[in-house]
Amino acid sequence: MSGTAAIEAVDVSRTYHLDGVSVPALRGVTLTVSAGDYVALIGPSGSGKSTLMHLLGGLDRPTGGRLVIGGRAVSELSPPELARLRNETIGFVFQAFHLLPRTSAVDNVALPLVYRGVNARQRRERAAAMLGRVGLGHRLDHRPNQLSGGEQQRVAIARALVTDPTVLLADEPTGNLDSTTGAAVLELLEQLNAESGVALVMVTHDAEVAARARRRIAMRDGVVVADSDADSAASPITGSAGAGGGS
Ligand SMILES: Nc1ncnc2c1ncn2[C@@H]1O[C@H](COP(=O)(O)OP(=O)(O)OP(=O)(O)O)[C@@H](O)[C@H]1O
Ligand SMILES: [Mg+2]
Repeated sequence: MSGTAAIEAVDVSRTYHLDGVSVPALRGVTLTVSAGDYVALIGPSGSGKSTLMHLLGGLDRPTGGRLVIGGRAVSELSPPELARLRNETIGFVFQAFHLLPRTSAVDNVALPLVYRGVNARQRRERAAAMLGRVGLGHRLDHRPNQLSGGEQQRVAIARALVTDPTVLLADEPTGNLDSTTGAAVLELLEQLNAESGVALVMVTHDAEVAARARRRIAMRDGVVVADSDADSAASPITGSAGAGGGS
């Protein structure tokens, strides 16, 4: 595999404990996300996609296995160290946009920079520039309820990218949008991946969307059942990817 590893998971598991019952949501996942990659994460409901995304982004910790984010082993980090690593390397976009409702678009986008110690004027400048990149330069002072769904998701994307992360984790980013708006958001994500080189890992239930990614990882019952990179040319989910080992 070419490229530097942005995130590395080796035999990672995550068991939830709920009212005395163990729920093994992930049961030994091994994968590498390379710098600049474009990965679609697919699989049935309950197969562990969101659980895996939370781990890859350092929002949660594995109960077993080894997880390395940006060259740092998660198990060796204190909670504040992990939070800082997350702020420096990861951007998140969720199905529900999770914007602060009483806060303007520009201040929502600037928020991750507060934790970086960036001063107020620079925060606003960088947030405004990022909103310009997602096509919302004319909506800086609108609050979320004054924006359409697609615009709100673009604000969330700008917020995820304002810190210049190496990986953008998007969990069903078009799930709450109509198909036209969803397609525009998807195009924006692909454009940002191509232009800025941020690795994109996206959960999707849409086979057509998954087909557009460079690489597809399929999960079932808490394990990876197919990875178009690892499986190479033999895999039926590799599609028409032309990067194969030559002839
Ligand atoms: N906080 C939790 N406590 C207990 N069990 C959980 C928790 N979160 C998820 N689970 C369980 O872990 C399994 C995997 O859930 P996860 O949310 O990762 O699935 P998913 O693939 O993202 O599904 P969907 O496509 O519906 O979003 C499911 O069986 C779920 O019920
Ligand atoms: Mg999910």
